[in-house]
Amino acid sequence: MVKTNRKVEAPGKALIKGKSINASRSEMSEVVLPAVTNLLGKLLGGHVMHLVDVVAAMAASRHANSYVVTASVDYIDFRNPINLGELVILKSQVNRVFNTSLEVGVKVFSENPLTGERKHTTTAYVTFVALDATTRKPKPVPPLILKTAEEKRRWREAGDRRKYRLEMRYRKQRSKD
Ligand SMILES: CC(C)(COP(=O)(O)OP(=O)(O)OC[C@H]1O[C@@H](n2cnc3c(N)ncnc32)[C@H](O)[C@@H]1OP(=O)(O)O)[C@@H](O)C(=O)NCCC(=O)NCCS
Repeated sequence: MVKTNRKVEAPGKALIKGKSINASRSEMSEVVLPAVTNLLGKLLGGHVMHLVDVVAAMAASRHANSYVVTASVDYIDFRNPINLGELVILKSQVNRVFNTSLEVGVKVFSENPLTGERKHTTTAYVTFVALDATTRKPKPVPPLILKTAEEKRRWREAGDRRKYRLEMRYRKQRSKD
C-alpha cells in the first residue's frame, strides 16, 4: 500500500497538507521557428532541453508553492525529430515527492498542424529542490496524493530512479576525495 496521502511536519511550521498531481500538472506549446532548428530543419535538442526544464519547473513550483532549482536531469531521450513549422507540446507532472526534492516527468509531443498527427518525441525526468524564499535553503515539499494505478506506478519508478541517482552522486563524491 502506497501511503502518500498524509501530512508532513516541517521544522517550526504547521503540518503541510498533501496535494494531488492534477493540482500542478502543467502544459506549454510553441511553433517551431527557423531560429531554433538545425540545418536539416529539425528542432534543436538543446532547445527541447530548455523547454523541458521550464515546463518541469512549472509543475514543481506549483506543487511546492515555492522557488525551485533544478538539481538533476537523469533521463532524456529523443525518439522522433520535430520539424520546422510543427507544434512542440510539453506536458509535465510531479511523479514523486521526497523531502525537500521532487521528481517531475515530462513528455514532449510534436503535432503537424496541417494533418493533426501527433507523435511522442521525448521523455525526461527532472529533479528539483524547493528553496525557502528567505534563507534560500532547501525546504520540505507537500506530500503527493496518489489516485490512479498509473500515478502509483510512476511513484514507484521514481523511487528506483532516486536510488540510482543518489548512488551516482555518492560515487562521484568519493572519486573526488
Ligand atoms: C540542489 C541544491 C539546492 C542541493 O543543495 P544541498 O546543499 O546539496 O542540499 P542537501 O544535500 O541538503 O539535499 C537537499 C535535497 O536535494 C537533493 N539533491 C541534492 N543533489 C541532488 C542531485 N544531484 N540530484 C537529485 N537530488 C539531489 C537531496 O537528495 C535532497 O533531497 P531530499 O530532501 O528530498 O532528500 C544545491 O546543490 C544547488 O543549489 N545546486 C544548484 C542548482 C542550480 O543552480 N540549478 C540550475 C539553475 S535552477
